[in-house]
Amino acid sequence: MMESLQAHRKNEHVSLAEKLYSQSHANHPFDQVRLIHNSLPEMALSQADSSIKLGELNLKAPFYIEAMTGGSKQTAKINARLASLAHQHGLAMATGSLSVALKDPQTQSSFAIVRDKMPTEPVIANLGASADLEQAQKAIDILKADAIEIHLNAAQELVMPEGDREFFWQEHIKELVNQLSIPVIVKEVGFGMDKKTIAKLQELGVKYINVSGRGGTNFAAIENRRNHQFDLSMLNDWGQTTPESLLEARAIKNPDVAIIASGGITSPLDVIKAGALGASAVGVAGHFLHTLLHDGDDALDRELNAWQEAILRLLTLLGCHNFAELKQAEVVLSPELDDYATQRGL
Ligand code: FNR
Repeated sequence: MMESLQAHRKNEHVSLAEKLYSQSHANHPFDQVRLIHNSLPEMALSQADSSIKLGELNLKAPFYIEAMTGGSKQTAKINARLASLAHQHGLAMATGSLSVALKDPQTQSSFAIVRDKMPTEPVIANLGASADLEQAQKAIDILKADAIEIHLNAAQELVMPEGDREFFWQEHIKELVNQLSIPVIVKEVGFGMDKKTIAKLQELGVKYINVSGRGGTNFAAIENRRNHQFDLSMLNDWGQTTPESLLEARAIKNPDVAIIASGGITSPLDVIKAGALGASAVGVAGHFLHTLLHDGDDALDRELNAWQEAILRLLTLLGCHNFAELKQAEVVLSPELDDYATQRGL
């Protein structure tokens, strides 16, 4: 049977994310952040604990596999491979947007496979911010999800030829946060957030904010490759990087709100730097997809082991017993990032 246009789009997103992967890391924004070495750690490696508590979610590692895919036969296979590895390593994983599964029930299994492979680890559902309560509940039920991400993707939709053109999201977000009984994470998709957005989300009652900044997968570039009607390539450098977004979030820190970092995380050192800039957890999408598609399942298996071990060693080097203690670690910003912070009054 022919797959739908939506299913075709899901396949294109994966293949274009992979095609543009190396290009997206030309100027790595996390190189603009340096950690300060401490010669007297006064702790043992065995004392380092990389597990985290993200509100009511207990995660074995400070990083998880971020929202990517589902909705077609090809992406069902990718979800199954990622979820098997997440299970093997005890990691959490978010699926791509379930909106396709709500429209076409035949595609539900391409998402549900993630829960099948991950009976005990946290699984995170994903939907756009125009979703209503009933749709969100249905998406949660398909995955028996432990949390749900609501994505904010105005920049992506406006570049997409078939994208949405109306963005009235605040009332929806407020309702979802008030009515759903599991954590609701509001996330960007790679364009970052500023302090006004973060403050507004807090006002709406959001307790988990994923700033998902520029510097990794670039959905303006991906959709520009798909859009042959109209040139919007001027948006290929749009948005705040992940370090910039974390500085924005830090300027209005609120102990009741967890900030999650994603966007351009490609190494355990990036995970640690995100923690030092105030992130409580870290999502990784494009880089793990690249390892899986380019190098294979065994390579991603080895990489997930290596990241977990490296994170323990980096925490020890910095004298931090756990990921939360990184918030006290000192950083130095590059002149460019420091200038951004000054101009923004951060
Ligand atoms: C994504 N991303 C994404 N985000 C989301 O909230 N819902 C979605 O359906 C998707 N789909 C999707 C497909 C593919 C192939 C990729 C690579 C990414 C965005 C993702 O969750 C993340 O916010 C950005 O990709 C930035 O992180 P990375 O890729 O730089 O680690």
